[in-house]
Amino acid sequence: MKHLLTTTDLKIEEVKEILVDAQYFLDGGTWTPKENIFVANLFFENSTRTKCSFEVAERRLGLDIIPFEVSTSSVSKGESLYDTVKTLEAIGANAVVIRHSKDRYFDELKGISNVSIINAGDGCGHHPTQSLLDLLTIKQEFGSFEGLKVAIIGDIRHSRVARSNADVLVRLGAKVVFSGPEEWFDNELLENGDYENIDTAIQTSDVVMLLRIQHERHEVKGKRTVEEYHKAYGLTEERERQMKPGSIIMHPAPVNRNVEIADSLVECERSRIFKQMQNGVYVRMAVLKKAIEQSEGSDNNVNTNKK
Ligand code: CP
Repeated sequence: MKHLLTTTDLKIEEVKEILVDAQYFLDGGTWTPKENIFVANLFFENSTRTKCSFEVAERRLGLDIIPFEVSTSSVSKGESLYDTVKTLEAIGANAVVIRHSKDRYFDELKGISNVSIINAGDGCGHHPTQSLLDLLTIKQEFGSFEGLKVAIIGDIRHSRVARSNADVLVRLGAKVVFSGPEEWFDNELLENGDYENIDTAIQTSDVVMLLRIQHERHEVKGKRTVEEYHKAYGLTEERERQMKPGSIIMHPAPVNRNVEIADSLVECERSRIFKQMQNGVYVRMAVLKKAIEQSEGSDNNVNTNKK
């Protein structure tokens, strides 16, 4: 895995290795590359969690971060994504972490071979590191994925998180169902699971994964008020009381409190929302480790020390 573009590209063995490494880092394990590794974080779209946790992950691994802000870079003079990444490659970057509003922006970067590209979210396309941190959170809770039922609820069509999670969860043996407004369904995604009524989905799932309404990707304004959406498709306090014993609530965040989830439930006992964010650092350490190892063509160029 030199690049991480989508979860679909990852073999299940690679997914499992990343989860093991992430847990190793979470348990205090360390790893540093022998050589200086330079990495740049290119966020063409806003981010709090992904950007900050990649930066913490990079610092924890002892990587050298090349400061890069889109607004003060030559992107503002019209430089293309390809030329920006090619430039970073030429000056010695080993890896670039990219978030971009364009679906599959990475297809434009195919000619670039000496730098690892790690996708931090492409439009409505994919968000592989979010998916991996979601998987780690589920694994910590249930031990495995076989036979689990995961309900993904909300703005499915515009969600790169839904797209990244659905395929890999099914390949890991989980059953996936979708719920939410019909106008936001995605036929392609429904290949990985059926639609279920919101109440059935919430009452029968082990994991209730809520999605934010992605207003920034909507061409037409939604049909409902915030209150109407919450009542029809949100996790209300009343719906939470109907959840299975031992089931958990997840959300990639940012959360719109009282829209897709009641304010009082964001930090409730069942919620793993902040655990997901914590896991993000360790999953991103594991992804960076794997990309660096593969780029250098050997596992022998690293120092691994368990605390
Ligand atoms: N979950 C997620 O990707 O959050 P950010 O947009 O803040 O990075």
